[in-house]
Parts: sequence; C-alpha cells; structure tokens
Amino acid sequence: MKTSSTSRRQVLSRSAALIGAASTGLLVSEQAQAQTGKLRVGLMLPYTGTFAQLGVAIENGFRLAINEQGGKLGGREIEFFKVDDESEPSKGIENANKLVQRDKVDVIVGTVHSGVQMGIHKVARDSGVLSLIPNAGVHAATRAQCAPNVFRTSFSNSQPTRALGAAMMAKGHKKAVWITWKYAAGDEAFEGFKESYTAAGGTIVKELGLPFPNVEFQALLTEIAALKPDAVACFFAGGGAAKFMKDYAAAGLQGKIPLYGSGFLTEGVLDAAGPAANGVMTTLHYSDSLETPRNKEFRLNYAKTFKLQPDVYAVQGYDTGLLLIQGMNAVKGDVTKKVELYKAMESATINSPRGKWTMSKAHNPVQDIYLRVVENKENKVLGVAAKALADSGAGCKIS
Ligand code: PHB
Repeated sequence: MKTSSTSRRQVLSRSAALIGAASTGLLVSEQAQAQTGKLRVGLMLPYTGTFAQLGVAIENGFRLAINEQGGKLGGREIEFFKVDDESEPSKGIENANKLVQRDKVDVIVGTVHSGVQMGIHKVARDSGVLSLIPNAGVHAATRAQCAPNVFRTSFSNSQPTRALGAAMMAKGHKKAVWITWKYAAGDEAFEGFKESYTAAGGTIVKELGLPFPNVEFQALLTEIAALKPDAVACFFAGGGAAKFMKDYAAAGLQGKIPLYGSGFLTEGVLDAAGPAANGVMTTLHYSDSLETPRNKEFRLNYAKTFKLQPDVYAVQGYDTGLLLIQGMNAVKGDVTKKVELYKAMESATINSPRGKWTMSKAHNPVQDIYLRVVENKENKVLGVAAKALADSGAGCKIS
C-alpha cells in the first residue's frame, strides 16, 4: 500500500514536472510566435457623432503611411481591431479594455476626444501597452501623467492657440470674446489663447461656453453681438464647428466681428460650412496649401486612394503611421524590446506633410504653427506664426 502510494506520488510529481516543462516550452514558442505573427493594432476612434469624420480621416492617414511602405510593420503583417469610442468619455476605459484585454493588441491608436483619451491613458499606464495618440490634446497625457509607452503625434491643446493671440493683436483686435465647448480641449485651448493674447496686450472681455457636443449657439451669438468685441476667438471642431460658422454668419456677425480660432475650426468642414467659413483666420500645425513636395505628394496620394481631400486629422493619422514604422523597424517587429522601441520613437524626426517635427522629452510634437485664412474652400497659409513650438511638458518625469 505504502509503496504504491509512494510510486503514485512520484508519478504525479513527474507528470506535473512534465506538464510544467511542456507549458514553459509552449510559452517560449508562443512568445516567439507572438513576435513573428501578425502585429495586433487596435484603432479606438470616433466613427459616430460630431467627430466621426475625424476618426475616419485618422484611420485613412494611418493606413496610407503603412501601405506606402509595403503594408507591414517591422516585417510583420498587421491585424486590425476597431472600436467606435463615440467620443463618449464615460465608456473610455471599457472600450480601451476591449482592445487591450479582449483583443490583446500590441499597440493602441486613439483617439480624438480628450476626455475619452484619459480612459485610454489609464489603461495604457496600467497595462504598459504602447499607446499612440493621433489627435486628443489633453495636457495631462504629456505633462503630469506622461508615460514612457505613450506618444502623441498631434499637438497639446494649448499649442495652436499659443500662436493665436499675437496674430490677432497684429491685426489690431484689442478686445476679444472667447467661446468654446466646455471640456478639457476647449479649456486648455483657452489657456494658450489667454497667455498669448494677454502677453501681446489684448483684453479678454468675456469667456463663453456650452457643454460638448451641444450646438445650440443662438443665445451665445446674441450675447456676442451685444458685447461688440473687436474679434471672437474659439475652439470647435468637426460637425459642431461647421454649424458654429454657419450660425455665426446667419446671426449677421461674419465680416462685422472677425472670427478666429485654433485651426480645427476649419478642418474637414469647408464644404459643409460653405461661404460662412470665408475669411476665418486660424492657427494650426498644418495647412492645405503648404507648398512643399512632401505635402503635395501626400495630398495627391490621399485623394487618389480615398477620393477625399485630406485635412489635419489625416496628416496626424499619417504621422502616427510614420512614427510606428520607425519604431517597429528599429526592433524588427519585436514589441517586447521596449527600451529600443521607445528610444527609436523618442529620437525620430517625422518627415510630415506639415513639415519636419521631432518629439519633445514628454512625447509631444515640437512643430511649427501656421497662420491660415479660409479662401475658396481652402486653408491658405499666410506664414509661420510660431517656429518649432514645444509644449511645456510641465510635471512630466520620464526616465
Ligand atoms: C480634443 O478633444 O482633444 C480635441 C478634439 C477635436 C479637435 C482637437 C482636440 O479637433
């Protein structure tokens, strides 16, 4: 009895050891397989709602960059996983976890809305998954809550408006009203505007706001008409931006009180806004009319591929692809080589349609900001409003 129970124990422990060895072996080969099989790319973008078009433009640009270089990343084929984030912050964490936990993506590309971004950001910081931000400018992501695995290819919310104040004062507009959607993107855009406008000697006579994505502008436009400022400055984007410009014109303010904004106001919406957009002046890190071979080639390829004109969102998606290509080439597709991967992305120079740009220490683009005006359904460049502008990266401690 004793003997048999001993031998049974021995058999059991031997088989446990065998199972252990087998499963370890499996893990090693699975891991090797994981670095040579398809790279799992998660796209978390708005495909419905006021920012739907922005999400599509980002995805198009991202795919174009990768397809131009053979359709692979670091030698690996790609499998895409998509989630519509609806620009709904309350679902941000849950949606990001669908990609990270369920789909086991190697990289998450997203998103547009700053509030939703904070959901992705939490999941990226907790899981360590590589996170590429193709639009949302929320300061925390590249300031106090910056992270080694998070890179932004777009802008920080205050970057475009940091170049706006001086441009408005140069036109002699000494008193301005600010109007925006009240959430991180609008509030942080205001930070840049306030700093640049007051530093140039301007006075902000009133700050107006409404909740995102509300487009009932009438009462606020009536208030602007009564205040009679020299100019109005704003942050709006997507479908809401088109409606704002149309309502501004319909209220009789176009041509009477000049309208300025961060350039998102006039991106991707010039057909929808029609003549209401004429003369609107903005500052942004891109302009359709940049007369560079790089921009012309990009615009042509994008238009041919998608039968659409590209905008800043398409450029940001494209640059996200360019950044990922550089990173993945450096590690030959092995995303487990994090140190080399991040180093390659940190030191990258992106040869973008917007002009060449580099990464700041906090992982946000250092880039030129252009002054533009809408003419004949085009964002025409008037000049560089701020050269190689960097976000402060305040509070960021990477490495
Ligand atoms: C944002 O929420 O960060 C945001 C959204 C749309 C833009 C720019 C910023 O065009």
